[in-house]
Amino acid sequence: MSWKKTILLTLSAMFISLQFYPLADNDDKRVTSVHFTRVYAVPENVQAILKKSCYNCHSNSTNYPWYAYVQPAGWFLASHIKEGKSELNLSEFGGYSPRRQRSKLKSMAGSIRDGSMPISSYTMIHRNARLREPEKKIMLDWLNTTRQALTK
Ligand code: HEC
Repeated sequence: MSWKKTILLTLSAMFISLQFYPLADNDDKRVTSVHFTRVYAVPENVQAILKKSCYNCHSNSTNYPWYAYVQPAGWFLASHIKEGKSELNLSEFGGYSPRRQRSKLKSMAGSIRDGSMPISSYTMIHRNARLREPEKKIMLDWLNTTRQALTK
């Protein structure tokens, strides 16, 4: 067997064996009393934006895309979910201290204003998750009003 064939076969064997390790397990659909939408009066248009652009990495319930089941792509997504949730978990937002909630509302607004969220490697594939200017405005207005109401 030529060395090229050997390399090709080894690589395909490696790729195939990777497929035995799927990680699409962030899938708890329960909306408990500490869920963001239970703690705040979230209007429908804000909820729709959170759903299409944020919940996949910042909640306990990811709507998994097909590539989540193809490794190593799925692992990158899983690591984003893990990291994203550790910074901000909207399914458990009500469990944060009032001070932390305020600071998270502020950093949510900040990340939307400067365009750092949703992360660009994600919007490259999920073009629909990208926020257009009117959507950013809806989010910023609501986040800022909500945060200001808290500090009073
Ligand atoms: C593809 C996954 C993904 C999506 C979708 C996503 N995020 Fe993130 N987010 C992350 C990751 C990973 C981090 C941690 C690393 C970093 O800060 O870049 C993070 C960090 C954050 C932080 C920083 C927390 C802090 O306290 O500084 C905020 C705030 C945030 N995201 C808000 C949002 C909002 C709002 C949306 C929707 C508009 C969103 N994210 C969409 C993955 C994501």
